[in-house]
Amino acid sequence: MATSSLLLISSCIISVLLQAASASKTRHFKWEVGYIYASPDCNEKVLIGINGKFPGPTIRAKAGDTIHVELKNALHTEGVVIHWHGIRQLGTPWADGTASISQCAIDPEETFLYRFRVEKAGTYFYHGHYGMQRAAGLYGSLIVDAADGEEEPFRYDGEFNLLLSDWYHQSIYDQMVGLSSKPFRWIGEPQTLLINGRGQHNCSLAAHLIEGSGKCESMSKDCAPVVLRVLPNKTYRLRIASTTSLASLNLAIGNHKMVVVEADGNYVEPFMVGDIDIYSGESYSVLVTTDQNPSSNYWLSIGVRGRKPKTSPALAIVNYRPNSPSKLPESSPPVVPEWSDYNHSKSLSYRILARRGATKPPPQSADRRIVLLNTQNTVDGYTKWSINNISLALPPTPYLGSMRYRLKNAFDGGMPPENFPSNYDVMRPPKNPNSTQSSNAYVIRFNSTVDVILQNANALAVNVSEIHPWHLHGHDFWVLGYGDGRFDEEEDVARFNLKNPPLRNTVVIFPYGWTAIRFVADNPGVWAFHCHIEPHLHMGMGVIFAEGVEHVGRIPKEALTCGMTGKMLMDNHLP
Ligand code: C2O
Ligand code: CU
Repeated sequence: MATSSLLLISSCIISVLLQAASASKTRHFKWEVGYIYASPDCNEKVLIGINGKFPGPTIRAKAGDTIHVELKNALHTEGVVIHWHGIRQLGTPWADGTASISQCAIDPEETFLYRFRVEKAGTYFYHGHYGMQRAAGLYGSLIVDAADGEEEPFRYDGEFNLLLSDWYHQSIYDQMVGLSSKPFRWIGEPQTLLINGRGQHNCSLAAHLIEGSGKCESMSKDCAPVVLRVLPNKTYRLRIASTTSLASLNLAIGNHKMVVVEADGNYVEPFMVGDIDIYSGESYSVLVTTDQNPSSNYWLSIGVRGRKPKTSPALAIVNYRPNSPSKLPESSPPVVPEWSDYNHSKSLSYRILARRGATKPPPQSADRRIVLLNTQNTVDGYTKWSINNISLALPPTPYLGSMRYRLKNAFDGGMPPENFPSNYDVMRPPKNPNSTQSSNAYVIRFNSTVDVILQNANALAVNVSEIHPWHLHGHDFWVLGYGDGRFDEEEDVARFNLKNPPLRNTVVIFPYGWTAIRFVADNPGVWAFHCHIEPHLHMGMGVIFAEGVEHVGRIPKEALTCGMTGKMLMDNHLP
């Protein structure tokens, strides 16, 4: 009897386990990356699409699912990789999709299998991470819903997905050549802002935006405003993510307030705003209640912040049914806050806190502190961005393979500096603008807690300090605090928010300010930490963190087929 009841119990346990297992799925995708003609702002260009589409297909999954993307490179003459922005890649660091870091770029006509788990519900996206391919249009949304039986800590009746980007008419090849020329040629401001790959070029007058009304450049459905069809007196979740190349954005909806509930796949303590700043690499969910006069439609608009705007806002229409979507909103589009009003931006950032009970507080102390000074410099007369006076130059052999197999000379040895000289004046241009390039990496003790202080400074020109949104691969981090001027190792550390700091994967540093983050190095792999502004990263604005690489499992051969690991594979020297 004892045995039979034991059997019964164990078979119950097994069926419960099986149920849990069957709830999470593997979702299969077959993608081809290739050049296509597209007209995001009604000017036809060649861009990089997926399966003939721009933006790429939206991946929708549930927390706990495994994503399986068979990616074929159909670009005839260049490699490609795709990074899954905001996904931790715990146990699959070779699927992070960073050329020279986690894998070799996929050669033309070859296929690479990205296989990884999405652990956490939230709003994410994916994008190219080789050269400046993201800016060529290689991106799309990745939305993770709560697992079956789990609930989001807020309710809504419907949702919309808004993937924001900016668009240049100049090709990324022109852009890259300019950025690495002497004299330097800056890419300038984007021509158009895009919502879900659609924008209105040279068309600031809302009244002219509706199809067929003339004034603006020929308006077809390729670049007509996105329509959000809503019912009155409902609550909608807007998922907003920015994959801009350069622009910091502000989003607002005429007459409507928004309640912020999610940031970068983490729940935040809900708070209400009239408009929201979104930096490249960030994502948010906001709840909007359609409680305004239902006989009207309303504009949703995004405009440029933090740089003198030369790009007109992009518009979408909130269409209260049963009004016609082409009925012009009665009020004009919301006005974008003054581009240089950083206090407005700061007050938003400061309000973002972890949702009560949603995440555990950070470890109360750190094992190591790394201070990273962000400066613009020159290397042999070429304009670069440097971190502690080192401009990142990626090696031909991806770090993950070369570190895992302990190859010598695959990248520059020695640790990059942990701090910068105490007499450096962050309020002035560098006294000595000369910097060096290197591929050296920060090796971090596995499972240790690390604080990183991002210190902004004056760029090369006087009275210029820019916004930089920093993104960490492989982790979420806690944002412990922000400040103006130079970080003070005593006073500022004492002010850190250790109670309810938000978890994020991207955070901004404001002009002349600093931002402090903390993370636990618990994810074996090699991870990029960089400014998410595409031309800045291209100019060296990033660092490499390596942790627990000895615990990394078997790296797929396809990730290793270049540089020294490629050669060793050919000679059968790698396991
Ligand atoms: Cu979305 Cu390394 O970036
Ligand atoms: Cu930057």
